[in-house]
Amino acid sequence: MVRNAKLAREGDCVSNDELFQAAVKAAGMAYSKYSGFSVGAALLTDDGKLFTGCNIENASYSLTNCAERTSIFKAVSEGYVKFVAIAIAGSIDKDFSKPCYPCGACLQVMSEFCGNDLKIVLSDGVYKLSDFLPKRFSEESMK
Ligand code: THU
Repeated sequence: MVRNAKLAREGDCVSNDELFQAAVKAAGMAYSKYSGFSVGAALLTDDGKLFTGCNIENASYSLTNCAERTSIFKAVSEGYVKFVAIAIAGSIDKDFSKPCYPCGACLQVMSEFCGNDLKIVLSDGVYKLSDFLPKRFSEESMK
């Protein structure tokens, strides 16, 4: 875990570029021997802490965990459940200029812990969770 509480207190949290570069760095840890596609995510909590994650593949392919969920599960397992931004960087050849859009499973997991205005930082711009998931299944759906 990287501490960014000072930056967060200064108002603008971590810059989008810093967050994206943290995701690129996290992609360096990808365990992606089957697809060869490396993904990194950098997740910022509401109190300025940064959790990173990478994709973790498995010989039983469907057990693969995406980078986004790795970062979220790391944070939640350490007691952080409110997030304000996530950067995602993916590449097959270390060129991270092509956007890596989050998969549906990761969007659903994000939605459990984040409001519609969660910032999603990609190489082609900054989005909100609601751009990708305008309607969502949640605990409200079950009432
Ligand atoms: N992957 C992620 O880590 N995040 C995504 O949002 C999309 C896909 C990973 C899973 C797998 O290891 C590889 O990319 C190819 O699908």
